Amino acid sequence: MLRIGMLTSGGDCQALNAAMRGVVKGVFSKRDDVEIYGFQDGYKGLIYSNFKMLTSKDFSGILTRGGTILGTSRQPFKLMRVPDENGVDKVEAMKHTYHKLNLDCIVILGGNGTHKTANLLREEGLDVITLPKTIDNDLWGTDMTFGFQSAVDIATDTIDRIHTTATSHSRVFIIEVMGHKVGYVTLYAGIAGGADIILLPEIPYDIDVITDVIDKRAAAGKPFTILAVAEGAISKEDAQLTKKEYKTKLAKRQFPSIAYELEQQIQEKTNKEVRITVPGHTQRGGTPCAYDRVFATRVGAAAAELILNKEYGYMIAMRNNEVVKVPLGEVAGKLKYVDPEASIIKEAKLTGISFGDE
Ligand code: F6P
Repeated sequence: MLRIGMLTSGGDCQALNAAMRGVVKGVFSKRDDVEIYGFQDGYKGLIYSNFKMLTSKDFSGILTRGGTILGTSRQPFKLMRVPDENGVDKVEAMKHTYHKLNLDCIVILGGNGTHKTANLLREEGLDVITLPKTIDNDLWGTDMTFGFQSAVDIATDTIDRIHTTATSHSRVFIIEVMGHKVGYVTLYAGIAGGADIILLPEIPYDIDVITDVIDKRAAAGKPFTILAVAEGAISKEDAQLTKKEYKTKLAKRQFPSIAYELEQQIQEKTNKEVRITVPGHTQRGGTPCAYDRVFATRVGAAAAELILNKEYGYMIAMRNNEVVKVPLGEVAGKLKYVDPEASIIKEAKLTGISFGDE
């Protein structure tokens, strides 16, 4: 008997179900004696032994379904070693559940924080395989994460729709795109949607550069401007602060998010009408795009192969469009940022996009 645990952890995204379907289809194509234990709501399910026994039938018809059939939750890594309110040692509890169910391995789908815990479980002796999910595309060790392309499509569609109103009303529009630390979704959606200004956490902006772009566009007969702004966009001034100082400043900020702060500054300096659109969690919702379905199916099937070969301790990644396995120890705790020196930034600048930096 092959006993496989499975859980999805962290913020949901598109193609989680597609990836799990890939794993299950792959395993059942070679063996019939398989039991699937689906842990509910991420690591919580493993900690509190909350699981459903699933059959291959449960993974049929879910290729296109958004969300996750297992549910998910955020379990901050830094609290993993802190006992819960009833004194339960979470790491010991997860190990206990794993051994009690006599699992051969556990497949964990998640992003950055999830990978830190997955690696911790590996270090504690559990057989773990992970799959790279997150709309943020910020996981080290893989060119892409599933969810990313779907989120880019949604954010692009938002920018496309805003373009028409921005043009009709000669307004400045700020579209705030998800991504607190890393700006991949903003960068790609911004270019795809024809944004005039793209602000990323990795490239601090100067408000005067931004208002200068808006004024110059107006003088050139282009009275509207579209800004694609990442949630974590930061000014040059704030980028000088220590992490702690910036956190304190954010806690006192009178605006709900960066878009609102920029709105006030731009309105004051340009005297133009500014509007904000925040697509928010729509970027993580709905059916996965075709690319993500293919990607998730491929990495899911590759995970199945590793399980059948009893090869554990890896994240399945995509590099140069090839599916590869990366040791979990290499992945955990590292973020993949947009490189301000990357050619995509230079190409975007060549087409007239401003990053608010120069
Ligand atoms: O990590 C994915 C992500 O969607 C980020 O881009 C976003 O900042 C965050 O999650 C939102 O988290 P939550 O769903 O917990 O509000």
